[in-house]
Amino acid sequence: MERELRPNEFRREEGALRILDQSRLPGEIVYKDLTTAEQVFRAIRNLEVRGAPAIGVAAAFGAYLGVREAAGDEGAQLREKLKEVCRYLAGARPTAVNLSWALERMERRLEQPDCAGASASRLADILLTEAEQILAEDEAQNQAIAQQGLSLLEPGMGLLTHCNAGPLATSRYGTALGPILLGQEQGYGFHVYADETRPLLQGARLTALELQRAGVDVTLCCDNMAASLMAAGRIQACLVGCDRVAANGDTANKIGTLGVAVLARHFGIPFYVLGPTTTVDLRCTDGSRIAIEQRPAEEVTCQWYSRPMAPQGVKVYNPAFDVTPAGLITAIVTEQGILRPPYEISLAQAKKKKEK
Ligand code: MRU
Repeated sequence: MERELRPNEFRREEGALRILDQSRLPGEIVYKDLTTAEQVFRAIRNLEVRGAPAIGVAAAFGAYLGVREAAGDEGAQLREKLKEVCRYLAGARPTAVNLSWALERMERRLEQPDCAGASASRLADILLTEAEQILAEDEAQNQAIAQQGLSLLEPGMGLLTHCNAGPLATSRYGTALGPILLGQEQGYGFHVYADETRPLLQGARLTALELQRAGVDVTLCCDNMAASLMAAGRIQACLVGCDRVAANGDTANKIGTLGVAVLARHFGIPFYVLGPTTTVDLRCTDGSRIAIEQRPAEEVTCQWYSRPMAPQGVKVYNPAFDVTPAGLITAIVTEQGILRPPYEISLAQAKKKKEK
């Protein structure tokens, strides 16, 4: 049995966040121990840790790492430092709401009654436990998403996925890949097509790797091949993850997701978004308000080959995410259940249920 690939693991003995450097997959399996908030910031920015839930978890541990030095100070100093560190880490990537969600939760934890008058070292311990709790909850909610998602699928289906929303993008199990992996355990015999996901190839490097390791029948295709697969009747459902779901159901996910959704509508194929309610941002009314990360031109022009892939100096458009309008989404699968339109209502109810 191959060792499970886990993106984040906190090692208490070493006092370090151990990450699997995803920028080196699939060629090399390299773990890195991070001991400062700055290292965590860089790992998130450079996509060594990536995927909305996984960057939330990494940031929570980063917040702890950033304040633990202050544990010899007064409680008030640690609280000030925490605010500063959280502001800093929240700037690592703008689109996935899980990042700011996790950091806000870390700050809120210190407002609870058991923190009043506590020493700085006690507060630091509380923060570490809170980050571990965020990771554990993410695991549990992904397990629920896998079960919910599988109930939408039939054995033998052809499935299309875009980017990577597998265990590597979460604490465990994944979101969009959860039902596929669970179905594999139960003998569903899915045929999965993984979009390569230009420019950073998360589909080719990570999704194909995760599915292949699990024994799933996976076929890699370039992003521009999805239409022909659908036209040939080889896709019965599309499953994608999400980075931020607005209150009306508009959903940001990896660039290219919108194209898959438009194609799915054309061919009458269900298009499912899977993600935990921590990715739902009710403060964001609709997709036009979601900040879309712009990334360096070199990712498009010369990331993967030794030879240049474009003429020097050409202008490049490289947004990391796009927004799929709610109207193209058949259902949003969360740990609170399968949500259907009107999403203004179903998302608000799911968030409320979660808070109980
Ligand atoms: O830029 P990335 O690799 O972090 O983008 C990841 C995605 O778009 C995923 O689909 C999303 O974060 C959901 S992960 C469960």
